[in-house]
Amino acid sequence: MSTVLHWLEKAVLVALNQLGGRASYEELSSKVGQLLESSGRGLSLDHSARLSSVAKACGWLRDKHLVRLEESPSRRFVVLDVEGEEYVVKGLPERRVVESLRSKGGVAVVDELKELDKGEIGLMWARRLGWVDFEKRGSDTLVKLVRPPPEKTEAEVFLEGLYSRGEAEFPESGPERRVVEDLLRRQRVVRLVEKSVKQVVLTDSGREVASQLSSYLVPEVTRLTPDLIKTGGWRGVVLSSYDVRAPTPPVYAAKRHPLVEVIRMVKQAYVEMGFEEIEGPVVELAFWNFDALFQPQDHPAREMQDTFYLLEPSAGDLPAEYVEGVKAVHEDGGGTGSKGWGYEWSPDEARRLLLRTHTTATTIRHLAATRTPPIKVFSVDRIFRNEKVDWKHLAEFHQIEGIVVEKGANLRMLMGVLKDFYHRLGLREVRFRPSFFPYTEPSMEVEVKLGGRWLELGGSGIFRPETTHPFGVHDPVLAWGLGLERLAMVIYGLEDIRTFHLNDLRWLRSVSPLEPLHTARRR
Ligand code: PHE
Repeated sequence: MSTVLHWLEKAVLVALNQLGGRASYEELSSKVGQLLESSGRGLSLDHSARLSSVAKACGWLRDKHLVRLEESPSRRFVVLDVEGEEYVVKGLPERRVVESLRSKGGVAVVDELKELDKGEIGLMWARRLGWVDFEKRGSDTLVKLVRPPPEKTEAEVFLEGLYSRGEAEFPESGPERRVVEDLLRRQRVVRLVEKSVKQVVLTDSGREVASQLSSYLVPEVTRLTPDLIKTGGWRGVVLSSYDVRAPTPPVYAAKRHPLVEVIRMVKQAYVEMGFEEIEGPVVELAFWNFDALFQPQDHPAREMQDTFYLLEPSAGDLPAEYVEGVKAVHEDGGGTGSKGWGYEWSPDEARRLLLRTHTTATTIRHLAATRTPPIKVFSVDRIFRNEKVDWKHLAEFHQIEGIVVEKGANLRMLMGVLKDFYHRLGLREVRFRPSFFPYTEPSMEVEVKLGGRWLELGGSGIFRPETTHPFGVHDPVLAWGLGLERLAMVIYGLEDIRTFHLNDLRWLRSVSPLEPLHTARRR
């Protein structure tokens, strides 16, 4: 057994073994006291300090499986009541009556004695005990001492013991039982309480360790003091060894928010794939958020129920160089071969300011500014939708967005890029379903298998000419926009998306970032 034991643990093991392997804290503590005393190590602890040290050591021993704690069925204990405490200090009433009687020469008038504090009760008990007797003399009743009381009665001995120990187990039988029953018959002298007692029990391995320990406990010190060195006292002591495996309180070091952790991982994957990060404004023109993406101006997603519009300022400046091209595409296809939407395009609608509803607004801005391939960019950023917040929806969340612009790029490449991306996050199974977006053709829904379930994680496709031509882009643009929180929920095994924002310290401390992904990745 290589367990390192504190000297107190050793003392407890030895004491418990000597007590037959089972004892209450109380019994154990007094046994430990005796052992330490006989080892020349008078432990300078008072009763209650020693008791709590012993209890603490029992806790350590339990963690080491050397003892176990059992709750015994509840037992009855006798404790002092208010009058009882007073009697211990001032003496029992019958004792006081007899003392007073003695000082009066052994005889007194009953009324004189009744005047004493608790005199009447004292007289009653003194008579019952046969110490005094009454005698009529004329109109007076006299009290006479007939038998001197013993030095100490059994009741007095018992009460004094109770005073110093605090409690005593209710005796099952014997003379003590009678004493206690008599005391219980008196008012508020002692009372009974029910308690269950913790029993410390040696386990098999505890017994083994205990039997190897000598019952003579060598004094051990936990700290080498200057005094021990100066006096040479260190020669006579044993220095306690440290148990470096002893349990300690947990330390919660600073860590990143679980959502930030996923964002960092996603960005890392993109960077490994040779992408560069782009950023765009959160407050966006409807022009970039919708019009540039060939979303008709009466598209339902534009409505207030889905989109947060700004009240102040409510509109911004349109990028003049692109207005004509976008207008033409919307109205009649603008020479792209499309028929457009066939309505009159309103610059006022396009000027409206809103909180971007997807990061594709940022993508198309960047595309307009760069134009020439090759382009490989991404963003992981915040978007806003006028959703009622519930376990599945937030009004503010993140999208994982990206585009690849390259001559000859096609749908196969798009699938390859997305698979590669998710593979890097440890997600092996990715599949695609046909879908629709106003700005892509063809369009695909991206699904990933995680924890046995297929999750819809977002949209993708190849930008339509109506989206790219107004900005002078004529090469294929592979584009996608994927949910971040949905992914993060599965990674952390969450049922409620709001968990990310509750700041529940217990969850934040316990959550281990990306455990499932890392495991998947290693395979
Ligand atoms: N913007 C789309 C959304 O918010 C996703 C998407 C991005 C689809 C790019 C196709 C191409 O769901």
